[in-house]
Order: sequence, then C-alpha cells, then structure tokens
Amino acid sequence: MFEINDIDTVVKNAIEEISAIKDDDELEKWRIKYFGRKGIFAALTSKIPQMEQSLKPILGSKINLAKKQLTTLYEEKKKLLASTTSASQADAFNLTIPGLPTEYGTLHPITLVSRQIVRIFQGLGFGIHTGPEIETDFYNFEALNTPADHPARDMWDTFYLDEQKKFLLRTHTSPVQVRVLQKMPVPLRIIAIGKTFRRDAFDASHSPVFHQVEGLMVGYDISFSNLKAVLTFFLKELFGHSIKVRFLPSYFPFTEPSAEISISCVICDGNGCQTCAYTGWLEILGAGMVHPEVFRKAGVNDENITGFAFGAGIDRIAMIKYKIDDIRHFFSNDMRFLKQFR
Ligand code: DAH
Repeated sequence: MFEINDIDTVVKNAIEEISAIKDDDELEKWRIKYFGRKGIFAALTSKIPQMEQSLKPILGSKINLAKKQLTTLYEEKKKLLASTTSASQADAFNLTIPGLPTEYGTLHPITLVSRQIVRIFQGLGFGIHTGPEIETDFYNFEALNTPADHPARDMWDTFYLDEQKKFLLRTHTSPVQVRVLQKMPVPLRIIAIGKTFRRDAFDASHSPVFHQVEGLMVGYDISFSNLKAVLTFFLKELFGHSIKVRFLPSYFPFTEPSAEISISCVICDGNGCQTCAYTGWLEILGAGMVHPEVFRKAGVNDENITGFAFGAGIDRIAMIKYKIDDIRHFFSNDMRFLKQFR
C-alpha cells in the first residue's frame, strides 16, 4: 500500500536525479526506473485497485499528473543532451580546425659531424672514449711531454682553476691519450671526442669553448705508414674521395715526428679562394708518432711498442663541411641557423 504523499516523494527524487544526468545512457536508465514495465509508476498504478474506494480517483489523477510532469522534464533533458553532445562531437572531429604547429628538433651540426667521425672510426675498429673536461696539469701538459717551462706551452692559452695551477680546463683532448694508455692493454685503437677550452677571443674563427677529436693507435708494429693510411681514409670518407690529402712536417711536444695534414680546399677545389687564404689547402689535423716520453709517463715501458696519434677541431671541420663562416653560430642557439641541419 502507499499514501498520497509517497507520490510527491517519488516526483521530488525523480527531479533531483534527472537534473544530475549527463548522458543518454543515464537518461534511459532513469526512464526505465520510473516509466518501465516494472518501473515505479507501473508499481504504483498496479496497487490502486487494492486502495480504499474513495481514494482511487484522487490517486489516479495524482499519478497521471506526476507522470505528465516528469515526461515533460524527460523530453526537455533529451533535447538538451542531444544539443550538447553534437556540439562537443563537432569539436572533437572537426577536421577543418587548423592543427597546433609542431616544432621539430634538429641535430646540432657539431653533433652531426661528431657522429660521422664516430661512424668512420668505428668502421675501422676504433673504440670510443671520453675524458674529463676538468683536467690536471699532469694529464693536459706534463704527461704529454710539455713540462711547465716548455716553450710549447704558449701554444695553449689555458684557463686555470686554482692558484697553484694544478687544475685546469683541458686545452685539447690529448690528455685522453694518457688516461687510455694507463688503463688499456696494448694493442689499442681509440678516438675521443669532447669539449676543449682556451683563453681565446670570441670572434669569427675563435671560441673559448670548442670541440676536438683525438685519435690513438698503439701496437707492436704501428708505423708512420699506418698513420698516413688511416688518416687519408678518414679524411676522404669525411670530405669525399675526390679531395687531395697533404702531409707536412710540423712540431708537437707529444709526437715525433709530427705532421700537419691538410686537404685540398673544398670551396675552390684547390685553386685558391678566401676560405683557404689563396693557398688551395685547408689544414685539418695535427698528428705524429707518439713520443717515447709520453709512453714512459703513462707507464708503458715496452720499447717495442709504438703508435700514432692525431687531433682535429670538430668545429672547424663542421664549418668547412657546411660552409659556415662564423664559429659563433654554433653557440648562438639561433633556431634559424640550427634548423638548417638534419
Ligand atoms: N692536441 C693538439 C692541439 O690541440 C692537436 C694534436 C696534434 C693532437 C698532434 C695529437 C697530435 O694527438 O698527435 O693543438
């Protein structure tokens, strides 16, 4: 049995519930709950015959009124949901709305050249090593046969980190040679790539931070011919097999004999232009046979062991390869510059 007031409660609940409904599924559940074959109104109606005779018409019209009221609410809700879903679906699937622009990253030209160099030497069986950017005087100079009073120290304007001048920012990657010789068994062949630092001006061709690649090949029968073969192959792989390679005698404290190695100018094909200062040649590498004193300082005492070493500036190589006229571009973080390289 039920009372007249129960109908009011049903209506109140139904209104509360429908106003919280957010989608068609919920609305359909609501409809079934109240208007379904086994719904609340069906239940109420089915009980009328058992009610007291005088109440029957009142209950009947009260139920009809409630049903009418809720049906109106239902129709309105249905329309509301239809309009909001179609609007949000239009947003989600509107293919004519312009997309958000996507910024593509590119690799820095120094990274690109470094990777090419790594690939070439990996192909020749060289291992890839690194060393610390903060070095000691021992590794950067002393062990490289460049003691404190050595005139060749003028070749490297150094950032020292303490007053005793024991710690410094490495002026070249050559100290990695010493570190590798100390810990690796002979024979060995490695390259090391990384940042190097000098108290230089910051102008079109100088930067206080730049990058070098160092190479070292050591064994029991390594000769200057191996140096020539490996470095000629390297330069031709890097710049193209049509270039010419030139070896001239030079001087470095840590190699004897020493050589400077140039390629025919890739801009003018060796005819002479501004880039090669009208010489037809571009100097790329310093190299030589490892000085016995370097072996000694690194603790390699077998006199039958020989080796060659080389070093090159990666920034300079990248400038030549990509025809970049100012080293400062590498450090400017200008997207218009960086986006040109992939
Ligand atoms: N370390 C030298 C420099 O920075 C370059 C160099 C020359 C490295 C000869 C070598 C070498 O390994 O054998 O100027």
